[in-house]
Amino acid sequence: MLAEAAVPAAARFFFALWLPQDVAHSLHTVAGGVVGRCGGRLMREDALHITLAFMGEVPERRLPELQALAATLTLPKVPVHLDRLGFWNHNHVLWAGAKDPAPVLAQLAADLQEELLKAGFLTEVRPFVSHVTMLRKLLHPGALPELTPVEWTAAEFVLAKSWRSDRGSAYETIARWPLN
Ligand code: 2AM
Repeated sequence: MLAEAAVPAAARFFFALWLPQDVAHSLHTVAGGVVGRCGGRLMREDALHITLAFMGEVPERRLPELQALAATLTLPKVPVHLDRLGFWNHNHVLWAGAKDPAPVLAQLAADLQEELLKAGFLTEVRPFVSHVTMLRKLLHPGALPELTPVEWTAAEFVLAKSWRSDRGSAYETIARWPLN
């Protein structure tokens, strides 16, 4: 039997665009209003992001390689806009997204996933569904409020780690790199 220390630690990792503080604040306020009326578990304001690529578990020993790869990438700055709230029945998530998402954002996710696939961090390129999870465990959303459209240019991408805590998903930013 392996000693406990010999078992490599693994956690769930993903690349994302983190929301600018002012955008996160205004969305969080809107989602807070929904919680007040309908319940659900509100994401923390500083945890709001759009996932570009989800690797799942990555052994800690491969993290330097993952970070070195990210540092070599030349990916473009992208416009991001959010103008609607939506609700997914299957996982009880309230999300913010765009009625007409910019194709360059999906292209950024596809290009990043392609590089991760080549390096063996992904087994497949998955369809990108641009969204910001705002609330989890929402059972009855009722009529969703209108979202005042927000727009910004994403100038960096982030490697983050997630794990389950008693208070839901927790996130930690591991590193960030500029988009060019
Ligand atoms: P979600 O917010 O829609 O659940 C950390 O868990 C981030 O990775 C979240 O943005 C989460 O999306 C996303 N994520 C979790 N599992 C995923 C999967 N299998 N494919 C794509 N993204 C995933």
